Amino acid sequence: MDPCRRWAFGLLSLYCVLLPLSQSSVYGFTKVRGVNLGGWLVVEGWIKPSLFDGIPNGDMLDGTQVQFKSMTLQKYVSADNGGGMNVTVDRDVPSTWETFKIWRVSENEFQFRCVGGQFLTSTGEGNLISATAGSPSVNETFYVERNNTRVHFKSLSGIYVQATQDNQLRADYQGEPGWEDNAATFEMIIFANNLHGDYQLANGYGHDKAEEILMKHQRTFVTAQDFDFLSKHGINTVRIPVGWWIYQDPDPPAPFVGGSLSALDRAFLWAQVYDIKCIIDLHAGPGSQNGMEHSASRDGSVNWPQPEYISQTLDVIDFLSARYGSHPALLGIELLNEPSAGAVPVDVLISYYTKGYQIVRSHSSTAYVIICQRIGNADPLELYQANIGDSNVVVDLHYYNLFDPFFSNTSVTDNIEYLHKSREPQLQALNSANGPLIFIGEWVNEWSVVNASKMQYQMFGRAQLEVYNAASFGWAYWTLKNDEKHWDFEWNLQNNYLLLGSSSRMSPNKLYILILAYTLFLLAYSL
Ligand SMILES: *[C@@H]1O[C@H](CO)[C@@H](O)[C@H](O)[C@H]1NC(C)=O
Ligand SMILES: *[C@@H]1O[C@H](CO)[C@@H](O)[C@H](O)[C@H]1NC(C)=O
Ligand SMILES: *[C@@H]1O[C@H](CO)[C@@H](O)[C@H](O)[C@H]1NC(C)=O
Ligand SMILES: *[C@@H]1O[C@H](CO)[C@@H](O)[C@H](O)[C@H]1NC(C)=O
Ligand SMILES: *[C@@H]1O[C@H](CO)[C@@H](O)[C@H](O)[C@H]1NC(C)=O
Repeated sequence: MDPCRRWAFGLLSLYCVLLPLSQSSVYGFTKVRGVNLGGWLVVEGWIKPSLFDGIPNGDMLDGTQVQFKSMTLQKYVSADNGGGMNVTVDRDVPSTWETFKIWRVSENEFQFRCVGGQFLTSTGEGNLISATAGSPSVNETFYVERNNTRVHFKSLSGIYVQATQDNQLRADYQGEPGWEDNAATFEMIIFANNLHGDYQLANGYGHDKAEEILMKHQRTFVTAQDFDFLSKHGINTVRIPVGWWIYQDPDPPAPFVGGSLSALDRAFLWAQVYDIKCIIDLHAGPGSQNGMEHSASRDGSVNWPQPEYISQTLDVIDFLSARYGSHPALLGIELLNEPSAGAVPVDVLISYYTKGYQIVRSHSSTAYVIICQRIGNADPLELYQANIGDSNVVVDLHYYNLFDPFFSNTSVTDNIEYLHKSREPQLQALNSANGPLIFIGEWVNEWSVVNASKMQYQMFGRAQLEVYNAASFGWAYWTLKNDEKHWDFEWNLQNNYLLLGSSSRMSPNKLYILILAYTLFLLAYSL
């Protein structure tokens, strides 16, 4: 054998020995080193605030919490008992009964929901405003005029609402009020304005403008270049949050707009080109499973556990599994992101997960079925004991050293110790629990340490990777891009705040392809 041939046969044997090693799990897949494409097909205002910039009365979006103080009485409007009764204007200090959630009808027309769930209505006897409407319609809609923090309300029949001397609220003010202190002028206090999700965006702009804004966002926020960047940095998976309305694309129910389905199709194409796998993550379930903006909640309520929403969610899973179940770039389907422990009972969730597993399996025998831990006060073991399905089940845990008063005022050392003393034992216990695989589907190189140095961020990132690398299914960073730079994966890498270590090495698959190519080249050359 000439030396060239000997080399070629040597390499070919090496390839044959190594290839099976690379295929220790399903379709040659090694552990997930993933990145979330957050804020893309499910928008979050804190990730990209500018998406909301063009909304008129943009501080009065769905779910904004407001309080009203009469300028003449100097008292707050109150839904007694939190709703179901008359409204009074007699409170000195605002609390929950005095706080109303906005449902937006148009840029000047709004409905007001009290803490008990009822809406303010002008149908009361003698023009009284009461908090008694179960669902809102024309008589629950008020036209709002604003002058800085002052507001007037008009019922849709054109009569202004006033606070009467006997502390009631009535739609019977005579004439046009000015902006001085008068019975029809109220101060509006915006108590909380923390929901900026797909509902707020779409309902805030209205259909056509929302579609234009979202189409542009979907085309520009994540592109093929990002997949190139990820693959160059050894990332082998993207976790892609989607909203439930994707299954009725291109014409989902109002206010949602279409477009996310073709964007998801594009992601699967790029994934194939750059040798990356996709996890489809149902991030926003119908009715909202956690009340947060990223579940597309209208006003912070959690309605997902209602049977009609669960059944609709299973239709969404069926749609996604049918469409992508045999796509070569599909790694798994996550049935529901971050259900709330406080509002979603574990038996309801387990029943859903079990049905969801069967639906995914009916379209794919190998796709991983990922089930997310409840957020709040819940132990992931509740999902291990549930026996959701027979094969390729993964439990997703989200590890943030944030969002809990426990982490405020912690030091660098506290944070790193926490990883080793709390996260690591939990991971080890779950890894050896003889059940589903374990996935750290969200984590971030950000913490509560104030003014930490670049070196301290590097230490934190390294410690997290050390611990999370032990997860049997792998991990995914939250998130690819973010206006908050420390959350931005690309920023972290470009500025060396996060050192991925071994990830910058060539991925095994590429190594084998190179060896194979080189071998074939040598063989051809030596003949
Ligand atoms: C509302 O106020 C009216 C007028 O004061 C009164 O007749 C009625 O009983 C009150 N209703 C409730 C539910 O408090
Ligand atoms: C609105 O209120 C008016 C007067 O009370 C009533 O006649 C009408 O049926 C109400 N409309 C709706 C849609 O409830
Ligand atoms: C707002 O109120 C002030 C007086 O409080 C008044 O001078 C001004 O004209 C008002 N602005 C509008 C747009 O009505
Ligand atoms: C954190 O420190 C600040 C300022 O020292 C203090 O006001 C706050 O209560 C602390 N928070 C917690 C959760 O310990
Ligand atoms: C963090 O840095 C800023 C700007 O240098 C400074 O104003 C602030 O006091 C620092 N905060 C702490 C807690 O060290």
